[in-house]
Amino acid sequence: MVNKPPSLDILSLFILIISFNVFTINRAVAQKATVPVRVGVVLDMDHYVGQMGLNCISIALSDFYATHAYYKTRLLLTNRDSKKDVVGAAAAALDLLKNVEVQAIIGPFSSVQEKFMINLGDKAHVPIITFSATSPSLSSIRSPYFIRAALNDSSQVQAISAIIQAFGWREVVLIYMDNEFGEGIIPFLTDALEKVNSRVPYRSVIPSSATDDQIVAELYKLMTMQTRVFVVHMMATLASRLFTIAKQLGMMSQEYAWIITDGITYELNSMDRSVIESMLGVIGVQPYIPNSQELENFTIRYQKKLQQNNPTALSLNLNIFGLWAYDSAIALAIAVEKARVINAAFLKANISRNSTDLEAFGVSSTGPELIRALSTTTFRGLLGKFKLVDGQLQSPPYQIVNVVGPGARVVGYWTKENGIVRELNFAKHQYILHFQVQYWIHYMARG
Ligand SMILES: *[C@@H]1O[C@H](CO)[C@@H](O)[C@H](O)[C@H]1NC(C)=O
Repeated sequence: MVNKPPSLDILSLFILIISFNVFTINRAVAQKATVPVRVGVVLDMDHYVGQMGLNCISIALSDFYATHAYYKTRLLLTNRDSKKDVVGAAAAALDLLKNVEVQAIIGPFSSVQEKFMINLGDKAHVPIITFSATSPSLSSIRSPYFIRAALNDSSQVQAISAIIQAFGWREVVLIYMDNEFGEGIIPFLTDALEKVNSRVPYRSVIPSSATDDQIVAELYKLMTMQTRVFVVHMMATLASRLFTIAKQLGMMSQEYAWIITDGITYELNSMDRSVIESMLGVIGVQPYIPNSQELENFTIRYQKKLQQNNPTALSLNLNIFGLWAYDSAIALAIAVEKARVINAAFLKANISRNSTDLEAFGVSSTGPELIRALSTTTFRGLLGKFKLVDGQLQSPPYQIVNVVGPGARVVGYWTKENGIVRELNFAKHQYILHFQVQYWIHYMARG
């Protein structure tokens, strides 16, 4: 018996060829028809949050356009490394506005750099979208073009004051860094503490560039005071040094209580073991991130991609700033399409011949439409529902953690509606207080 070679009859082959052609033609048309929309990204690439942010933004856009091929617009990124300083960020933003004529800027990295950039965006009608500048003082600039796709630091003050109230602590010393980021939270925190009848007898301001000797001197001063409860708000790198020294001075013993704000809590996973050992017993707060399949998949993909493409990456850890960066990029992609930023042009108003003139950039004609679209864009992001109110994300429940070794253990939650609870969505567990005190004492004793 002769085997018949496998074959398609002529008609199906014909249909297959036709539909294949139609498909490729459609795709080609779709791709040709897309309009690039220039977007600047200003981040400090010497910091792992800057690197993480850029990686997350580029993964977000390739994910998004893969599933939204029918979109007419495509964000086209121009990156600028701002380094750490304010001037670097300002120069980068100015260059992007004047020479690249970007329609929006994502960045900058820090609250210290943000102020000037918000003013530039306001003048040029170009949305400035940050996923990492969290100082609440930035809100006071009141620019309609400033979008904070992150939580401002004052979102957590009620969670912190609820902890203080639960323990019945009457006095609290605030230890913070002497810059925009460090100081921004202080008025809000002091108010929240007042509301739970807790006083702030002393504020300890640590210079961003403090030497170990300066930190030692400041901690000695604190040791002479009555108050044994501290809230620490500073960049994690400075906090690591502070806690290492506090441990050496015997200030991490049972007599003292330490609470850290979210910026430090996020970093607990990536701190050195020796630092974590000096931080045993510390209580931290951070926004609660609901688990989802998308988030799990993304975390795995992110680490794989980093290992393949960027073996020199400063850190493989992904934290909330990366997730905010991812969601910001998608929000912007949706808004740009919604606002039909097709014939985007800068109106060359107030042009000056002087090339060093800071004002020599135009005003974006699409800015007002784009910012309106961004403000009303909602979708399901990696962190749950993405929705801006007054240009900012809204406060989710907070998680309360206790440092008990590498990583931290979740000991409770705080919600606006119910205060401190042991578990989310379980009304019957609303008495966390007793449980939590026991945990805390247990681990302080170990530490
Ligand atoms: C900070 O964010 C919260 C929402 O989490 C908001 O209610 C508050 O008005 C914001 N504060 C500032 C100063 O931006």
